[in-house]
Amino acid sequence: MTLAALALAACAEKPVLPRQLAGADPERGRAIAERLACGACHDIPGIDWPKGRVGGPLAGFSSRPLIAGRFPNQPDTLVRWLCDAPSLAPGTAMPPQDLSPSEARDVAAFLYTLE
Ligand code: HEC
Repeated sequence: MTLAALALAACAEKPVLPRQLAGADPERGRAIAERLACGACHDIPGIDWPKGRVGGPLAGFSSRPLIAGRFPNQPDTLVRWLCDAPSLAPGTAMPPQDLSPSEARDVAAFLYTLE
């Protein structure tokens, strides 16, 4: 296989399923996302307002293989991204969020309901 073909194969990679977030509650996660105003920057299904455009829309997030185009879309990485995105991606425009680890797991479970 050529390098170009390898790169293409990597792009087509599917996320590894299922994603386990034992004990996390997606509905609680939705409410937390609403309270923290994730919608100020993201258009998120299930959150009616304000549908901001600074970050991308999160519809279909569960079927994306990568977070922000560069990290594997897996629970541990997503939880870390939600709490402190700049710790993964210095210079990212997504600020750290005021989430406890268990709240971040709930929000992650909610994001994985977005197909
Ligand atoms: C101040 C604006 C802002 C806020 C508030 C914000 N984000 Fe983000 N978010 C961004 C930006 C900008 C990116 C793209 C980051 C990058 O590519 O470096 C992003 C990326 C993401 C991603 C990755 C999306 C993808 O396409 O892979 C997820 C998931 C995410 N945000 C969830 C959330 C959640 C959940 C909240 C609330 C707890 C939130 N964000 C709050 C700006 C924000």
